[in-house]
Amino acid sequence: MTKKKALLISAAVAVICAAFWACAPQKPEPVRVGGIPETEFDPEEWGKVYPLHYESWLKTRDPKPESSSVYRRGWDEDEIVYDRLSEYPFSALLYNGWGFGIEYNEPRGHYYAVTDQIEIDQSRTKPGGVCLACKSPFHKTYTEKYGMKYLKAPFMDAVNMLPEKMRRTGPACIDCHKQSDMGLRPNKPHLDRGLAMLGKDKFSRQELRTIACAQCHITYYVPRDRDKKVSGDVMPPWTGSKWGGIPIENIIRDLLSDFRRIEWKQSVTGLDMPYIRHPEFEFFTNNSTHFNAAVACADCHMPYTRSGSYKISDHNVTSPLKTEMKACAQCHTESSAWLKKQVGAVQDRTASMLNRAGYATAGAAKLIEMANVEKGRGRMIDAGLYAKAVEMYKNAFLRLVFISAENSTGFHNPSEAGRVLGDSVAFASKSEALLRQALARAGVSVPEKVELELQKYLNNRGAKKLRFRKEQEVKDPFGLQKLFSQLP
Ligand code: HEC
Ligand code: HEC
Ligand code: HEC
Ligand code: HEC
Repeated sequence: MTKKKALLISAAVAVICAAFWACAPQKPEPVRVGGIPETEFDPEEWGKVYPLHYESWLKTRDPKPESSSVYRRGWDEDEIVYDRLSEYPFSALLYNGWGFGIEYNEPRGHYYAVTDQIEIDQSRTKPGGVCLACKSPFHKTYTEKYGMKYLKAPFMDAVNMLPEKMRRTGPACIDCHKQSDMGLRPNKPHLDRGLAMLGKDKFSRQELRTIACAQCHITYYVPRDRDKKVSGDVMPPWTGSKWGGIPIENIIRDLLSDFRRIEWKQSVTGLDMPYIRHPEFEFFTNNSTHFNAAVACADCHMPYTRSGSYKISDHNVTSPLKTEMKACAQCHTESSAWLKKQVGAVQDRTASMLNRAGYATAGAAKLIEMANVEKGRGRMIDAGLYAKAVEMYKNAFLRLVFISAENSTGFHNPSEAGRVLGDSVAFASKSEALLRQALARAGVSVPEKVELELQKYLNNRGAKKLRFRKEQEVKDPFGLQKLFSQLP
């Protein structure tokens, strides 16, 4: 049979099928899987076999401005993004000393993962090629092939090592799927190392629907040498933890265990610090109602959707609030308005606690600064009290960062958010009390209200500040900041 004949026959078959389809009840079809070459990275090529998925995946590029999401704002065509430091001014003080204190934006869609990294203030990508770990599908291959030469390369040099067409490609088909049968499997060496630490090597399908996201939505540290220079690929701080139980206490213990995890110096306190990034996986899996009910990340962020006569997983990964709560409706019969209200209530409470913990921690930071200044002037500050205060302070700070950096504003695990922030407030208060005692013993009179000088930290951020939205509001649902009059 000639090629032309075969085509004609298949076209005729297609017409007959289509006619049948039109009469038959519209029951959605699952998508059939076909092979992709082992070495194919390019989503456009995968898209030739799975056009509906490719199209859906590309939609993470579309702006999501009509957002009913209060805490996770969308972005408009003008690409001016929302600035977290303006939303939570105390964080400008606390993150001063490194990139996060200069530019820290609300996330956009997956399409922008590498682009946003290229466009952000360069202080944020100082570590170099290693920053591509949670962004580029080539990270694993390049780490294996080029090692430290790639990991330590200046960020743009590392980007330019990638094939030209795909330098800006973010989370891609190959990150989540096996080429042969489209089964889910991760593509990130740091996650393999993390899962080994958890002692976990067998996964149910539902677990894989969470693991796919845990490739990037976990916290990690960039290992450093004594001069804070990059010394390896990223690592999750999961020592002593288990699957379904990576509490903040374990993360803090791991991060404070040695100098390799120390990534920056906090300006206000002069303390060497580790950091915590987007811990969605850790937070969600630590005994949340949904995790315990075997709900996966993909259930809420990649709901089943109809595309023509097919039923596919929505690859336009985004907030369920930006898609009318359709994801929730797969399991919940309540109205979308009711569900939205539940999310809003959790987020308002979390944001309120974040402010309490944030201002308490910032207050303690300013007292550490004061103690350091007094030491510099030759005053004797009780070393025991000071050391204890610093330990309490680090515990307050890292708990605060854990919930701040987690992107659901508490929703993924509401009661855990309350617990962690409550502890943060307690540690910060204890630290403040110890510092007041140490300063008083040294004969320093501490004012009742510690001046945070927030405007100083907020305004001292260079040209990048111009990209921010002017009308952006401070997130303070119950007016706590006015109560403490920390803002001008
Ligand atoms: C290869 C890394 C990677 C993987 C895998 C990944 N993400 Fe992301 N995700 C990112 C990055 C990076 C951003 C922020 C992009 C930006 O701001 O430019 C992001 C942003 C998001 C956002 C915000 C989008 C919006 O519209 O505001 C959501 C929601 C999200 N991811 C959920 C998920 C879920 C669910 C999974 C698993 C199905 C997943 N991600 C897998 C790296 C990843
Ligand atoms: C039960 C549903 C549910 C599950 C399960 C879930 N999420 Fe979410 N997620 C939400 C909701 C609701 C929000 C808040 C969205 C908002 O405020 O717009 C959110 C927010 C996010 C955001 C920020 C979105 C944005 O637009 O900035 C990211 C990223 C994210 N989730 C990733 C994950 C990951 C990774 C997992 C699994 C470890 C996960 N989620 C599990 C419901 C869920
Ligand atoms: C962040 C991870 C992620 C990325 C990136 C991703 N997928 Fe998926 N994909 C999933 C998940 C999760 C499922 C649901 C699988 C399951 O439940 O077993 C899925 C399912 C599928 C399926 C099976 C049918 C369905 O809709 O459930 C196909 C086909 C598919 N994806 C194609 C693609 C293509 C093509 C790309 C790139 C353009 C891509 N995927 C990118 C996570 C991803
Ligand atoms: C895959 C199924 C599934 C999806 C999707 C899902 N949920 Fe749930 N949800 C559950 C289950 C199961 C429970 C536990 C029910 C129980 O114990 O009564 C639950 C509980 C809840 C609760 C009560 C929480 C608590 O702590 O008691 C709220 C509120 C909720 N879900 C909101 C949402 C919202 C909002 C979304 C979408 C962003 C969503 N759910 C998506 C299955 C789901």
